[in-house]
Amino acid sequence: MKSSIFLFLFLFIAVLVSFKSSKPNMGFEIPKGWPDPLYYFKGNEFTEDKFQLGRKLFYDPILSRDSSISCSSCHVSFSAFAHTDHALSHGIDGRVGRRNAPALINMAWNPYFHWDGSLGNIERQSMEPIRNHNEMDFNLDSAVSRLLRNKFYNGLFEKAWGDSEITVRRMLQSLAIFTSNLVSSNSKYDKIMRKERGVAFTNQEKNGYILFKKNCASCHKEPLFSTYKLKSNGLPIDLELKDYGHYTISEYYKDSFLFKVPTLRNIEFTFPYMHDGRFKKLKDVLKHYAELNPKTPYLSKELRKIKPLSSNDQKDIIAFLLTLTDKEFLYNPRYQFPR
Ligand code: HEC
Ligand code: HEC
Repeated sequence: MKSSIFLFLFLFIAVLVSFKSSKPNMGFEIPKGWPDPLYYFKGNEFTEDKFQLGRKLFYDPILSRDSSISCSSCHVSFSAFAHTDHALSHGIDGRVGRRNAPALINMAWNPYFHWDGSLGNIERQSMEPIRNHNEMDFNLDSAVSRLLRNKFYNGLFEKAWGDSEITVRRMLQSLAIFTSNLVSSNSKYDKIMRKERGVAFTNQEKNGYILFKKNCASCHKEPLFSTYKLKSNGLPIDLELKDYGHYTISEYYKDSFLFKVPTLRNIEFTFPYMHDGRFKKLKDVLKHYAELNPKTPYLSKELRKIKPLSSNDQKDIIAFLLTLTDKEFLYNPRYQFPR
């Protein structure tokens, strides 16, 4: 009798353990208190070799028509994979794009991609810049043939995927393993939330945090600092770019001016700000929110009741936002140009 109880317990534990380990390997631990990521790595489990292949591809101009532009031309590690030199992204032949290159942070938690929410899958997302006329202006089959002719990549694909077959899918999935592993969770804010010793908010940061929770967190929700919903924060239209956000995709008027809420992690380094990079400094952003007219057409409801922010309030919020800087992320050699 006793032994059958033991046997039962043993089986029970074995089932539990196997259930737990049936979760695909993602390459990172889910930070404490965070939700599960949305990119589940099913069918594309993390391996170190895939990560290194994705990293190599990310930094290699081989994926652009004239081998001049790589993903990293626009997504620079020191600025949390945004681009700080110009408002609108610059691609092949000096062509200027229509939008600001967004930071790539915690991509595995994003339900969709691009400022207008037009792409639903991180694997498919990488097709976009490779084919985009203003970015890399190439096509996927030619990119694959170029990789096939390259001995170095033959070896890397074989290591990562078990044989030397190079396909569009494998190329995109390797890139996705790299970009989805760009996880930032070690800012001062995170350390305070984890109650680590010797780290505390200053009074100004504390006040900024209170104001932030009142006025900003409904869209820039902790711990990812975004709900990733499509919202309008009331920016006036740029008459030259005429970017109507999600409307461009759906063609419903009600979707006018809706843009994906960006994360605010590492915001100190991801300037210029907004979909068109119109603001150079955080103080310009705060001024926009402080002077926002609650009757702005299409403005999302969360901002219609925003209380006036004094100039001290604005400074305090900025002080809080600077606690979201994660130097371990920004200067992580693992994310940088492979040597
Ligand atoms: C010429 C500049 C440029 C190049 C090159 C480029 N990107 Fe981007 N990237 C952008 C811009 C601009 C956006 C925003 C596009 C939009 O919203 O319409 C973007 C968006 C993204 C996003 C979505 C981010 C989000 O929060 O929704 C990912 C992921 C991404 N790029 C990865 C890559 C990868 C991988 C490559 C290389 C295969 C690459 N990019 C090459 C400029 C570039
Ligand atoms: C209604 C939801 C909403 C609220 C509330 C909100 N924002 Fe935003 N925020 C957005 C959206 C949407 C964008 C992107 C808009 C665009 O580019 O067109 C944005 C962009 C930003 C950016 C630029 C980020 C980048 O990477 O370019 C900063 C900084 C920012 N918000 C800070 C704040 C602060 C501070 C508050 C509170 C005072 C706040 N937001 C309140 C929706 C919101």
